[in-house]
Amino acid sequence: MTDSAAARRLLVRDLSQLATPAGGEAPLRGSALADVEVLEDAYLVCADGRIEDVGRMRELAALEGDVEEIDGRGMAAIPGLVDCHTHACFAGDRVEEFSLRAGGASYEELHATGGGILSTVRATRAAGEDALRAAVGRHREWMLRWGTTTFESKSGYGLDRDTELASLRAIRDEGGIPTFLGAHSVPPEFDEADAYLDFILAEVLPEAALIAEASDVFLERGAFDAAQARRYLEAAKGHGLALRLHADQFTEAGGIELAVELGARSVDHLEATGDGGIRALAASDVTAVLLPASALFLSRPMPPGRALVDAGVAVALATDFNPGSAFCESLPIVCSLACTQLKLSPDEALSACTVNAAHVLGRADRKGRLTPGYDADVVLLDAPDWRYVAYHLGGDVVTTVIRDGQVAWRR
Ligand code: NIG
Ligand code: FE
Repeated sequence: MTDSAAARRLLVRDLSQLATPAGGEAPLRGSALADVEVLEDAYLVCADGRIEDVGRMRELAALEGDVEEIDGRGMAAIPGLVDCHTHACFAGDRVEEFSLRAGGASYEELHATGGGILSTVRATRAAGEDALRAAVGRHREWMLRWGTTTFESKSGYGLDRDTELASLRAIRDEGGIPTFLGAHSVPPEFDEADAYLDFILAEVLPEAALIAEASDVFLERGAFDAAQARRYLEAAKGHGLALRLHADQFTEAGGIELAVELGARSVDHLEATGDGGIRALAASDVTAVLLPASALFLSRPMPPGRALVDAGVAVALATDFNPGSAFCESLPIVCSLACTQLKLSPDEALSACTVNAAHVLGRADRKGRLTPGYDADVVLLDAPDWRYVAYHLGGDVVTTVIRDGQVAWRR
C-alpha cells in the first residue's frame, strides 16, 4: 500500500442517525440484546479498513490528508449485516418444487421421494468448480445489495469428495466463511446413513477441515439421527472445527441436548422447540440461530423467538438462503419477520444479525458494531430512522454498502 492510500479516509457526514449494538460484549442476551446506541446528527470515519471514529457532527474535528466524503443527509447508518447461516453454494433451482408445494406437496414428502435437497445435489455435482465459484459470487452480490457484508455458507450439496471440497473452496474464494455440511442428506449411492458417514468422515473430513471453519449436520427424521449427528460432530471437533447443528426444524430429536453437551457454537432452526429446549439453551453457551424466512417459505410454525430471548438465550438471526426452503437472501426482510412474527423489537433484531451473528462466526471482536477498531463494514439506509431496516418490508431501504472501508455497492 502506498503512503497516500494508507492516509486515505472515508468520512460519512451529516447522518440523521448512527445505530450500533452498545458495549463490547458478545453474545448479547436478555435485555442487553435490545441495547442499541443511537447517535443523532452523526458522522463516521473509516481508515485502513477499520472504523476510526464515530460521533456527533458538532464534535467532528478537521481531518488531515486525503478524505473521501459521503453526504449522509437523510440517511441512517447501521453495521454491515452478518449472515451466519446460508447455503449459497448450489447449482440449478427448485422452482418446480416451489410450484408443487404451492399446490399442497410438503417439503418432507419431496425430500423423501428423492427431490428436495437431492435434486440440488444432482445439479451441483454436474456443475464443476468454476460454475460453483460463479454461483457463490452471484449470491454474494445479491446479499450485498441487502447490506450483508459478511456471510457464512455451507457446503452440503456435493455429498461426494470432489464436490464437497470444490464447494468449500468456492465459498472461501468468493469471500465467504465455509462450513462443512457433509451430513446434510444421505446421497443415493449409499443405502443407509452410517455407511455414508463412514465414507465422509474417512475420505472427506480431513481435507474439508483444512478449508472450513465449522461443521454442520441436519439432525432430523429422514436425514441423520442424534447418534449419527454425535458421531459426525465428534469427528469434526477432533479436526478442530467449530460445531453447528440444524435441529428442531420439524421435530425435537435431541439436537439441543447434543449441542449443549458437545459445546456447539449454535443450534439453528428451532421451529419445533418447546419449553425444555428453551431452558436447556438458556443455561448454555450455545447460540440459537433463528431462520424465520425458512419457516415462512415452507409455511411452517415460527420459532419461539420471544420466549428464547426472554429466557436469556443468546439469539442470532440469519436468512438460511438456499434454493429449497428459503430462497431469500435479505437480512432486512428477516429483521422484519423477526419483529412481526417472532415479536422481537427492531433493536433486538439488529443485534441478532450483527454482533450475535458475528459471534456465531467467531468474529464478534471485529464485526457487528460501529465502534472504533472494528472492521469498516457499514450499511447506509435511505431512511430518517434506522428502524426502517425492519419496518420497510421488502423495500429499497439499503442505499450504500461499505465493506472494508470502501464503497462496495451503491444503489
Ligand atoms: O436449512 N433443512 C435442511 N437444510 C436446509 C434446506 C436445504 C434445501 O432444502 O436445499 C435448511 O432449511
Ligand atoms: Fe440451513
